[in-house]
Amino acid sequence: MPDESDPSRPDTVTGPPFAARTIALVGLMGAGKSTVGRRLAEKLGRAFYDSDAEIEKAAGLSVSDIFALHGEADFRRGEKQVLKRLLELPPHVLATGGGAFLDAETRALMKEKAVSVWLNADLETLWRRVQKRDDRPLLKRADAKAHLSNLVTAREPFYSQADLHVQSKDGPHNNTVTAILKALQTWTPA
Ligand code: S3P
Repeated sequence: MPDESDPSRPDTVTGPPFAARTIALVGLMGAGKSTVGRRLAEKLGRAFYDSDAEIEKAAGLSVSDIFALHGEADFRRGEKQVLKRLLELPPHVLATGGGAFLDAETRALMKEKAVSVWLNADLETLWRRVQKRDDRPLLKRADAKAHLSNLVTAREPFYSQADLHVQSKDGPHNNTVTAILKALQTWTPA
């Protein structure tokens, strides 16, 4: 019988497959990626990163100011770079900005380095939540709700490519954390 407690065994089991990967939360503004992500990280004893916060740190500007001063294309370039860097870090929990998963290279990198989790929510839930803050440049317009609704439709084909899909319902965030943990248990690398 091989000694299974021997840590030098190359195939020593160290937990479920997701343990070796960063957990990347994707989905629309208002899905709860940052709030839920922070709690998930706490529960797993992992570091937490938020790509928007990292972009702001790197640029020394808020997301709104980057959009206003440099435009969306520049923001997207920065977002891609920051995600590339974050995805090289040891396994952590990563909340991504709502547009990040639309980029084909970022999606491919996440497939390779992370387990992607689509935090999905219905339009009314997203709308209620995004109204609590006014720092989202894409929603600073008179027809913000209609625009959010368009984004729900336009982005679904991308978000649905995430490895796992979890519904972000109203109620305690911990329920969503529990749902993510349950989904993670089912994940195996492709
Ligand atoms: C965006 C979502 C925002 C932020 C930027 C653009 C998007 O992040 O990255 O305003 O394209 O959906 P959150 O999803 O964290 O709000």
